[in-house]
Amino acid sequence: MTAYTLAHFSDPHLGPLPAAGWRELANKRLSGFFSWTRNRVNIHRPEVLKLLVADLKRQAPDHIAITGDLVNISLPAEFLAAAHWLEGVGTPANVTIIPGNHDAYIEMPWAQSLACWAPYMTGERNEGNETAVPQSHADFPFVRRLGDIALIGTSTAVPMPPFVAAGRLGHAQLDRLRQQLQALRRQGLFRVVLIHHPPFGGGAYKRKSLLDAKEFQAVLEDAGAEMILHGHTHVSGLGRIQTSKGPIPVIGVPSASAVAAGHKDASRYHLYRISRNGDGWLLEIDIRGLNATQDGFEAQGSMAMSIPLLVSKEVSAAGAAA
Ligand SMILES: [Fe+2]
Ligand SMILES: [Fe+2]
Repeated sequence: MTAYTLAHFSDPHLGPLPAAGWRELANKRLSGFFSWTRNRVNIHRPEVLKLLVADLKRQAPDHIAITGDLVNISLPAEFLAAAHWLEGVGTPANVTIIPGNHDAYIEMPWAQSLACWAPYMTGERNEGNETAVPQSHADFPFVRRLGDIALIGTSTAVPMPPFVAAGRLGHAQLDRLRQQLQALRRQGLFRVVLIHHPPFGGGAYKRKSLLDAKEFQAVLEDAGAEMILHGHTHVSGLGRIQTSKGPIPVIGVPSASAVAAGHKDASRYHLYRISRNGDGWLLEIDIRGLNATQDGFEAQGSMAMSIPLLVSKEVSAAGAAA
């Protein structure tokens, strides 16, 4: 059987920031505005993002998943600009997005914010349901079926106080996620959970982490999943959630627009080639990243895992990201 190829990138943090009046900035946005103009504007480069999208299109994946932080301080003009940019990435039929904390930087009317990207977040809400557009945080996750693959798009994007970049799923999403994962398991699909924040406890980084990571992990213990994809950290990451039936791979990518800066990685994206393998699955991952001269993308490693019925076993790894 031919493999299905899912591409994954995250955190484009689209610039430049549109002009904003003092009234729009008289809130948490002010600190974000200064953070952008002093620092982030030099890290998140539109030309890097352009190179990534061009390289990704040459790879011709079957579908593209983007795990949040499309914008920076949630200005209405940023949501419209991002909707325009998304049209250049692909159609809602072949691109799926979820929001990140920068896409809910402050409390915003839905119509002026995430509704702008609704076609890319449309999917089934409950088993057997018609497709529906999320109208609020509690309406996530949505499910998109792509042949043998199911994407489950969550939202951890809730407004937080200044200098807090944490996220939360909340009970409504956790309950629905459990039901969705159980239903998709009965159908034997390869379940990919999209979540902006890495689903691990915060420790010293509580102000940046998923506040209900423990509850999320309890859902996975009950219902399982084949793979979890995230962004938010702006570094490459390969982790695992241990369940009694085996570990679930948890994979993160750096910011799609970033040049290397401090302890953060330069831009990368992943291609996941998913195929049936006996009773289970073969997951092959190609890593492509910004080259040293910052004028193109190159192969930066690959790995493969077999995932038999929730028991993942790494079979090879070469040049894998940290
Ligand atoms: Fe981000
Ligand atoms: Fe984030």
